[in-house]
Amino acid sequence: MFDLQNRNIDYLRISVTDRCNLRCVYCMPAEGIEPCLHDEVLTYEEILKVCRCAAALGICKIKLTGGEPLARKGTAELIRSLKAIEGIEQVTMTSNGILLYEQLPALAKAGLDAVNISLDTLDPDRFERITRRRGLDTVLKSIDLALELGLRVKINCLPVREFNGDHLMQMAELARTRPVDVRFIELMPIGYGKDLTPVPSCEIQEQLRQTYGELAPCNKKLGNGPASYFSIAGFQGNIGFISAVSTGFCGTCNRIRLTSTGFLKLCLHYNKGVELREYLRKGIEDADLTQLLQQAILQKPLQHHFGSHISDEEQHTMAQIGG
Ligand code: GTP
Ligand code: 5AD
Ligand code: SF4
Repeated sequence: MFDLQNRNIDYLRISVTDRCNLRCVYCMPAEGIEPCLHDEVLTYEEILKVCRCAAALGICKIKLTGGEPLARKGTAELIRSLKAIEGIEQVTMTSNGILLYEQLPALAKAGLDAVNISLDTLDPDRFERITRRRGLDTVLKSIDLALELGLRVKINCLPVREFNGDHLMQMAELARTRPVDVRFIELMPIGYGKDLTPVPSCEIQEQLRQTYGELAPCNKKLGNGPASYFSIAGFQGNIGFISAVSTGFCGTCNRIRLTSTGFLKLCLHYNKGVELREYLRKGIEDADLTQLLQQAILQKPLQHHFGSHISDEEQHTMAQIGG
């Protein structure tokens, strides 16, 4: 359906859990965050009901996120059920790539269409400094296995001056040596991200030009998100940029979000939305839920407002939102 800004809302991002097996510095403190209680988290049946109603309104693409989505059991079965909903064309996932290695065959079999893997460095020590865990080898094995299984793979790299700012061309190399797209995501001033220094997309583009030559804008639509892509001669994959801060993309936003506890979030950085869980647990009918979703989408804000009017207490954490 179209919102009041005439944006076609066809993409739902679902955080299935706020739990995670890593402790990335831009996302959480070393001790982790207090996870939501089991009872507060939507069951897969509840998630499927929301998706059925969202599909009736024109949502056709679903992204599963976390925390780490695979930290919750049964994701493959969820994917199979989502793909069976009339109108749902694509189910994709964003994962940190650790549990992915063991689960990939089952996920691919269940019908997963593509996977985005978060990876900020190719150096094991830096990996440990950023994620506060070991596991780089497993993430790299997941990338190659996903490709072997025929899945489309994108890498999400978060450039942070203090950690990988001088190491970004090595990350771009992944797109030269493999058919994967490497996306550089501008650090957003949310939660722990506020204390770190972003590397602006224009600076990375300049480094890429100096190292590899011309960046040709890609006109093809790759994926459903806000990234804009370039191709480089000799590269198998593309290089993408998600520049929420320096450029912004709210004017073409196509998405809404569901947190693991059932809060329908209308924008990544905006806290008005609808607590769907209480309606679900009171047994709301599909027709009424569809109407509730429709009314909510009409309240979708024009744009996010980083740095303004939402206190840390009010704003969901990145692990709750799932990026
Ligand atoms: P595909 O390209 O279809 O795979 O979708 P995607 O780019 O939306 O997927 P992914 O989950 O990998 O998202 C990458 C990052 O983009 C997220 O972690 C967010 O940081 C950022 N992002 C996605 N949507 C929004 C948005 O609406 N607003 C802002 N500010 N950032 C977003
Ligand atoms: N700004 C931008 N992206 C972030 N992520 C986590 N915190 C931030 C932030 N402050 C990204 C991770 C991962 C996705 C789930 O969210 O890099 O790719
Ligand atoms: Fe986990 Fe993703 Fe947060 Fe890292 S950024 S701690 S992988 S939820």
